[in-house]
This record gives sequence, structure tokens and C-alpha cells, in this order.
Amino acid sequence: MRVTIRLILSLILAAAAVVFISTGFQARQEQERLEEELARRAAVLADSLQESVEPLAAGGNLEGLQRLVQRFGARERLAGIAVYTNDGRPLAVTQSLPSTFHSPHDMVRDVMEDGEGQGLFLTDESKRWHLQVLPIRWAEHIIGAIAIVHDAGYIDAQRDRLWRQNFIRLLFHVLVISLTTLLIVQWNLLRPLSKTIEWMRHLRRGELAEHDTLPKGDVFAPLAREVTHMAKSLTAARAAAETEAKLRHAAESRWTADRLKEHLRKALNGRPLLLIANREPYMHIRQGRQIRWIMPASGLVTAVEPILRACGGTWIAHGAGDADRETADASGRLRVPPETPLYTLRRLWLTKEEEDGYYYGFANEGLWPLCHIAHTRPIFRAEDWQRYADVNAKFAQAALEELEDTEHPCVLIQDYHFALLPRLIKVKRPDAQIALFWHIPWPNPEAFGICPWADILLHGMLGADLIGFHTQFHCNNFLDTGDRLLESRIDWEQFAVNRAGHSTWVKPFPISIAAPEISGEISKDKFLKELGLTVQWVGVGVDRIDYTKGMTERFRAIERFLERHAEFQGQFTFIQLGAPSRTVIKRYHDLGAELDAEAERINRRFQTRQWKPILFLKKHHSQEEIAPFYRAADVCLVTSLHDGMNLVAKEFVAARADLRGSLVLSRFAGASRELREALLVNPYDIEETAEAIYAALTMSPEEQQRRMERMRWTVQEHNVYRWAANLVTELTRLQPAQEHVAAST
Ligand code: G6P
Repeated sequence: MRVTIRLILSLILAAAAVVFISTGFQARQEQERLEEELARRAAVLADSLQESVEPLAAGGNLEGLQRLVQRFGARERLAGIAVYTNDGRPLAVTQSLPSTFHSPHDMVRDVMEDGEGQGLFLTDESKRWHLQVLPIRWAEHIIGAIAIVHDAGYIDAQRDRLWRQNFIRLLFHVLVISLTTLLIVQWNLLRPLSKTIEWMRHLRRGELAEHDTLPKGDVFAPLAREVTHMAKSLTAARAAAETEAKLRHAAESRWTADRLKEHLRKALNGRPLLLIANREPYMHIRQGRQIRWIMPASGLVTAVEPILRACGGTWIAHGAGDADRETADASGRLRVPPETPLYTLRRLWLTKEEEDGYYYGFANEGLWPLCHIAHTRPIFRAEDWQRYADVNAKFAQAALEELEDTEHPCVLIQDYHFALLPRLIKVKRPDAQIALFWHIPWPNPEAFGICPWADILLHGMLGADLIGFHTQFHCNNFLDTGDRLLESRIDWEQFAVNRAGHSTWVKPFPISIAAPEISGEISKDKFLKELGLTVQWVGVGVDRIDYTKGMTERFRAIERFLERHAEFQGQFTFIQLGAPSRTVIKRYHDLGAELDAEAERINRRFQTRQWKPILFLKKHHSQEEIAPFYRAADVCLVTSLHDGMNLVAKEFVAARADLRGSLVLSRFAGASRELREALLVNPYDIEETAEAIYAALTMSPEEQQRRMERMRWTVQEHNVYRWAANLVTELTRLQPAQEHVAAST
């Protein structure tokens, strides 16, 4: 309050000073204007009197003279007129002339001596007068003078009025200023401040509810951002401590970030960790005039990022964001996560031609459909293949730079973008231990064999010491492919490939998520209301818009479900969050439009005024934005036609601390090998998926709980920290490879 009073007083003083100075200036100008006007009026009157007075005075017509002055003397603000002889005797005087002027003023004598008329303001008996004197002449001689006296008091009165008016205006300003200041301070400072204090108090006590939000607005936005980061770190630290405590209590051996850190410290024994993935974990993009960062929609990023956070190291990736260059140093490096830097991201810049050929072309129009059997034909172009090889060489160069001055480094290469990279690095750095993790499925040899460069790809991959897939099935397919397409020896007991004296172990490592304990509750009703939904049941799907995800089939299964179980019409809405992906590729671009049309068709078929069955939200959603959808859903649909793992299934399970909700999961997603308690479906079988949705929505709470408990146990036990620990342990257990590696590519 004291600050408010001080603020108001300062504003009032400033306003008063401005009013005082400007009124003084205005009053002076007004006084000068009125004085000039009065002097001019008096001079004109004296001139016009002079002509009539002179003959009367010269002729001694005193009576006529008296009548004349009396007639002129009746004018406004005129105090009186006197005509004097040249020896100072009054010849004629108006009755109203103040007595002071009955005998002539000194100025009258001066005028008669100089022969020039004069005007003067004078004060007498605290009154202000204006005296104008003009000589009267007859036959070249000065025979007397006319004195005209005006009452100048009205000029002071006018000045005083001006001061009074401006003082009243000042009072009004003071009132308005005080009220406005009070309101501004109250609404923009005090209220948000006390809300922030309340919020922080709840946070400190761990009592933060969903409706407790930080105030928004310009003044508090930076503070809110900082405090939110602090709060997140605090919540994470608290959650980690709680988890540790629980684990100690239960004598369990669950993997956590801290445990992984400790484990890798021992396993790596000072050796540096380098990760190479095409997709970067933090992408800076321009939004209007602002630059902000996003975490791209990528299962790989979701899984691998927590490891770098836990252990530090360097991640090399393609800098694909339109504001990536401005936010990195000259060598493309920056520390991330942006709010609490823990590891280095090194961005590599690709030309448009490189990106088109390597990423869109060979990786995503060639290898992606080749490895996913989803009935989209792979396209192989020689130019794309050439770019793919060039970009692999470019990443190899960057990796070798990062590995300079290191010994026996550990290199974790990610995914189908870098099949050639293991050998390119191994040839130059035989002491490096290299793992390649393939995040997508591996098809059978017949399917893979259609790639014109299949043998070169395999040769490149076999430069790694360890190759990981999500499932044993994919490992077997890979070993089969190596057996058929390459000159190599397969060790089916060890699951290894021997080629030109170098061994590569091929093992399954089912990837996962960090699976954090999520606290706090959301109100499903409130959340649905915010989305404009009034239904009793909701389903959710979260995907990149990709033809492998079976989204069209999913929409059709929803249509069939509503057809077969009409009682759910008006009561069930399916929310599909779809992140646009690889839209430069025609197949992906067309898919977006196809899905829009399909959702529209189904909606038109069933919708009423207040309800529609499918809500298709086509945009990138952050992890924080997705979480409430998972937690509000009665059923989550994961209907991939083919998927290496699918982490959405695991994220949904991890989000359901309330042990409610059901998961409908494609049997062609790697996750179905672990999440056995999900309702497994063949996504091509629309009838089966429709019935699974029905079974999910009518499942008893006890049954939901039983299934969810087991799935949650699996996800929490087999989290990404365990995955990383297994992968790195397996890699470091292999003897540091010093043997000769064939240099040919
Ligand atoms: C799959 C791949 C990842 C890739 C992700 C997103 O999960 O295995 O390597 O990052 O899709 O695709 P994008 O092309 O946007 O990186």
C-alpha cells in the first residue's frame, strides 16, 4: 500500500507542477492581451474626443464641454473623463471620475510639455486604473489636456478566474489519477502477485491442484516462465526423491535417471558418449517475430532424450528448424534442454538438395515403406541414394570431429537414416564401440531384397559392433537377410554376423519411455467442457500423421462401432491428435486430406446439433498438452498397421495413475509383445477393432484396474533407463574392437 501511496503522490506532484507552470504562463499571456486591448481602446477614444473638445475648450464653452464628456463617459469600463486647462484647472469632469483624478496626474503635465499623448496603468487604493492623456491644441498652442480613465480591475479578475478554473481541473485530475493508479496497481500488480504467492505456497507444500495456474500477462510473463521452470525442477526432484524412497522401501530395483547415471559412469569408465540421430530433440522455430523451441513428435526423441539428460554427452542431429542457426554457435553447437542445460546438441546443416534426397527421398520414400509392410510401395531413385550416402559421410565427418582426442568412445547411432554410418566411423576409428539401434521393423529377406542397394546397406550396418531392434522377430529377419544377401557367417547361437573378420551382435532391446510418476488429478468433465464436449465417453488417438499408423482404419472402426452400438451415438467422441509429418512427400500430404475427408464423412453421417463422433485436431501438441487427453480418455486407440514399438501405447499407460481406461492395441506394433493386457486387435479387421472399442467402454472398473496395474508395472519396470543401461552395458561388454575392418563401402 505504501508503494501505491508513493506512486499516487508522485503522480499528483508531477501533475500539479505541470498545471502550475502552464497556468502561470497562460495567465501572463491573457493579462498582456487584455492590457494591450484596453490601451488601444483608450487611445482610440482619446483621439475621437480630441477633435470635438478642442473648439469647445478654445471658445470657453464650458457647458458644451461638460455635455460632451458626460456623453462619452457612459461607456463600458470607463471610469471617467477630465479636460484640464494648461495650468491644471479642470474645465470639465464626468461625475463618475474617481476623486483621485480631479486634480491632474503628473503625467498630464508631462504630456502638455512634450505635446505627445501617453497611456499608463497605475494602482491606487488597491485598484488598478488605466490613464490615457492627450494634449488639446488651438492655433498651434497647447491649451490643455484630456484625461481618460478606465477601470482595469477586470483584468486581474480575469487572471484570478483562470487560476481558480485550473485549480478545479487539477483537483479533478488528481481524483482520476488516484483512481486509475489504484485500479492498475490492484489488477495488474497486486492481484497477480498475490495469486503467484498463493501458487508458490501451494507448490512448496506440494498441494498444487489442476486449477492452480500462474497468472498470465505481460508484466508477469517472464517471472511466470522462470517460476514454472523452477517448479518443474522442484516437482521432478521431489518425484525422483519419492520414487527413490519408495524403491528403497520396497527393495525393488527399478531404473531411474540417477541409477542410470551411476551405472553408465561405471560402465563407460570415463569414455565419452556420442549419439547420432537425424531428428534433433529441440528444434527452434519462428512464430511471428518470436523464436520458440519445440520437441518434435518422434518416438525416438521421446525415448532417447531422457538418457542424454541423465548422462550428458553430445547429440549430433540435422538442424531442421527455421530458427536453428540463430540459436546455435558458429559450429552449430548449443547446450540443451534450453531451460536447464545438461548436454550438447550439435546441429548439422543440410542443403535443400541433401534433405530432399537423403531424408525425404531415400530414407522416407525408400527405406521407411520398405521396412514397414503397410502397402505403400517404396520408391528408389539413384540420385536419392547418392545423397543418402553423401549425408551419411557428412555425419561421419562430424562424428569423427567430436571423437578427436578421445579413446574407446561409445557411439550410439539411431535409426534407418544412418545405415552406412557405422562402417564409415569404424574404418577411421576402430577403437570406437558402435551400436546401431533400428527403431523401425525389419522385414523378411525377400521384402528387403528389392532394394537395389540392399547389400551396401547391410555392409554399412555391419560396421557396428552391436545392432539393436525392438523384437527378436526383427533380429531374426535381419540375420536371415544378412545370410541371404551377403557373404557372411551367421552365428545363430550367439545371434551374431561375422563378416571379413568383424563380428556384429544382433539383439532385441525393446525401447520404452521414462515413465515418470505423474501426480495431481484432472477433472475429466472440466477438460471435456473446455473442448466443447458434453459426452459421457471419450476415446483418444495420438499419432504423427503417417500411413503406417492405421488412422483411416481407426476412423472406420469408430464408424462401425457406432453403427453396431447405436446407444453410444451422442455419448462417445473420439479425439484424434495428429501431428503433421513429412508433408513434402505426396503420400503424406494426400493422407492428411484423406483423413480430413474420412472424419468429415463419418461426422456428417452421425452428427447432431450438439455432437459429432470424431474431433480431429491436426497440429503439433507438446507432451504437456497431450497428457490431459490421455488422462481423460476412457479408451486409447493405437492401431498401427506396422510399428517397431509405438510409445504412445506406453505413454497412455504411464499417464493412468488412476488405473482407469483401456488400451486397444494393434498386434502389429512392437508394444503388443509387452503390453499383453491391452485389447489386441488386427487393425485391418474393422469389425474386430469396433468390438474392441465396445469391450473397452463396457469393461468393469475392476477389470480395467487389473489390466492397467499389470501394464503399468511392465512400463515402469522396463523403462527407457533400463533400455539404455542394457544397450550400453551390452556394447561395453564386447571387447574393444581393434581388428581390421574392411574399408570398402
Ligand atoms: C519414427 C522414426 C524416428 C523419427 C520419427 C519421426 O519414430 O523411427 O527416427 O524421428 O518417426 O519422424 P521424423 O521423420 O519427423 O523424424
